[in-house]
Amino acid sequence: LPKPVPKDNDKNMLVKEASNGSQLMKEFRDQKLKQQKDKSLLRAQALGMADPMIESKRDEATNAVITEWTRTQKNIQYGKRTSLSMKEQRESLPIFAMREQIVKTIKDNQFVVIVGETGSGKTTQIVQYLYEEGFTKNNGDHIKMVGCTQPRRVAAVSVAKRVAEEVGLKLGETVGYTIRFEDNTGPNTAIKYMTDGMLEREALNDPDMKRYSVIMLDEAHERTIATDVLFALLKKAVVNNPQLKVIVTSATLDSNKFAKYFNNCPILQIPGRTFPVEILYTKEPETDYLASALDSVMQIHMLEGPGDILVFLTGKEEIDTSCEVLYERVQQLGKSVGSELIILPVYSSLPSEMQSRIFEPTPNGSRKVILATNIAETSITIDGIYYVVDPGFVKLNVYDSRLGMDSLMVTPISQAQANQRSGRAGRTGPGKCYRLYTEESFQKDMQPNSLPEIQRQNLAHTILMLKAIGINDVLHFDFMDPPALKSMVAALQDLFVISALDSEGSLTSLGRKMADFPMEPALAKCLISLAEYGCSDEIMTIVAMLSVQTVFFRPKEEMKAADQRKARFHHSSGDHVTLLNVYRGWVSSGHGHGSQWCKQNYIHERSMKRAQEVRRQLTQIMKRYHQPIILCGNDFNKVRWALCAGFFKNSAKRDNSGNETNYKTLIGETPVVMHPSSALFGKKPEYVIYHTLLMTTKEYMHCATTVEPQWLVECAPEFFQAVDTNERQKNEKIQPLFNRFTKDQNSWRLSNQKKLRR
Ligand code: CDP
Ligand code: MG
Repeated sequence: LPKPVPKDNDKNMLVKEASNGSQLMKEFRDQKLKQQKDKSLLRAQALGMADPMIESKRDEATNAVITEWTRTQKNIQYGKRTSLSMKEQRESLPIFAMREQIVKTIKDNQFVVIVGETGSGKTTQIVQYLYEEGFTKNNGDHIKMVGCTQPRRVAAVSVAKRVAEEVGLKLGETVGYTIRFEDNTGPNTAIKYMTDGMLEREALNDPDMKRYSVIMLDEAHERTIATDVLFALLKKAVVNNPQLKVIVTSATLDSNKFAKYFNNCPILQIPGRTFPVEILYTKEPETDYLASALDSVMQIHMLEGPGDILVFLTGKEEIDTSCEVLYERVQQLGKSVGSELIILPVYSSLPSEMQSRIFEPTPNGSRKVILATNIAETSITIDGIYYVVDPGFVKLNVYDSRLGMDSLMVTPISQAQANQRSGRAGRTGPGKCYRLYTEESFQKDMQPNSLPEIQRQNLAHTILMLKAIGINDVLHFDFMDPPALKSMVAALQDLFVISALDSEGSLTSLGRKMADFPMEPALAKCLISLAEYGCSDEIMTIVAMLSVQTVFFRPKEEMKAADQRKARFHHSSGDHVTLLNVYRGWVSSGHGHGSQWCKQNYIHERSMKRAQEVRRQLTQIMKRYHQPIILCGNDFNKVRWALCAGFFKNSAKRDNSGNETNYKTLIGETPVVMHPSSALFGKKPEYVIYHTLLMTTKEYMHCATTVEPQWLVECAPEFFQAVDTNERQKNEKIQPLFNRFTKDQNSWRLSNQKKLRR
């Protein structure tokens, strides 16, 4: 794992070793440079500037091309959007040549696998071809939709927007999208983009997918759990619904496996149209990938010809910080670098107006640098990228079935991912990819392919969905790559422990209700099973606030002030009630009129609006399923109890053995620490439950709340027991009833079943 090292001094420019410089590339660049110089001369003359001045600067520029003529590139245009009409753009995509073949193959087959490079037009075009060919028309007035799934929300939204634009109709009508907590479709929607999780959810009520004529499972190479589950569900659906067509698209060549799984279906290959990409490796391993990524960006900006830069980072915080650092560096450079550097972040939780900015053509004379998570690897295509900076890491949600928990981990990417990333540089012309690792490390340390999500994540949610869809024998479900038996059994146990399954492994009525709530089972449980504790209203707010990620704004130059403001919301019980306080504060400031309030309190207004929207939708779901919505007011013990009942598995106890105050999880005894941003940081309560663990240099508990130890015993008598130490401390010490990870799983199940039957 990378351990970011604090930067001590301003490192010099990185030394990169070109491993396979291509002649074509060199010629292309030389030609480009010459054109720029000619143009800048012309322009300088037109502006009445003296040639010699430019000449002298250009001499310097042979080593460091940072002078006047860079600025005068203002004449140079790149990116096709500016010149081509929408129709021309569509017809210029590689997929267009295969339009007839694609349509025919889909007509003749129930399953088709389509493989094509990122940017070839799979996501935006195929659905339109089918729409144009009348696939969405049905006898009578019912529309049969063409649905297309995306592993990521951002991609679903941005692609739907783009296609609505191409079709020339308003988004939400003929072309719409559905993502969690947001439905932008209407009665006439014929082309529907959605996250794979949403389609999986639709299978709860419509397992045969009767509303669709075609379903395209896009980005299948990403192998998200939901897509993997849909593979199997759709394989079943086509049997019951012979009219249904299923398209599986992938950006990688691993298509034979897909085709074989789908009853040996045909594979269509979209011919690539990519330019060579020069790959550069570092000579030595980089100790601080973030610092070297930013150095590389500056180096490219100052020394390389025009073209936008794409940098792959691991997450929102990292991206936001990098944006600030880059901005400062550009400011410091001032006018010495002619062309402007437009810095744009891209990650899933970014507001959509900001997201659409990345697709806008770069203004003449400037350069874009896009700092993105691996969302830009294949899900979204950005034109005009000539340079890719790849530190070689990705943040993954990894489930450790031995420890029994999920955590976010920064892990090295696979070779396949590295190649996808470098491919982003070769769409508009020959490009360069700066890999911030050694060639040896690429060859020896990286896995050829990444592990499908289903083999590394907590399966509780997936198994709950399958059970609710009516698939009882989940252990023999037709997964393309079945998860380890151990993880499935662990998930079944997790669901049993939170009462979603009974001791026979059948869905309980509580479990069926939990499946209707689009959130992790533990949160759903807090929300619905605890009506009798009378705080469902508050829990809804907390769930909504948790679903919007960060609400606190912490600008670098005002961190102290921001922290002080945040501290005013802190509640002694911890972060959940703190979030509730923020929401209540915002509501009493008058919602939409609260801009001023948000500014003053360093709160992201947009996050608050989104939380409000999520809350509104949760209210609807609660009403639909006749769940009472009850306010507890300020009786926060109820809230803490409810959280304890949902999250007792994520419980930790203070560990006084070392010098520092650390915690150990009650189950598994993993050492964990309180995250510095927590309201409980430094407060050292004895027992806490936490929402998630974040693994960086340590395992950090994110969003924690204090609980009373006897509550754990009350909430999960199958799990915890009070330990009799002495009379006074009775009920204050607890321990897990069993250690499920060392004991034989079966004997545990049996003894529990016995106990329950008694
Ligand atoms: O799915 P695939 O990677 O094969 O390509 P696509 O997403 O359908 O993209 C085809 C073209 O549409 C590319 O040139 C993209 O730049 C463009 N596009 C866009 O301009 N805006 C979007 N939101 C999505 C795609
Ligand atoms: Mg695509």
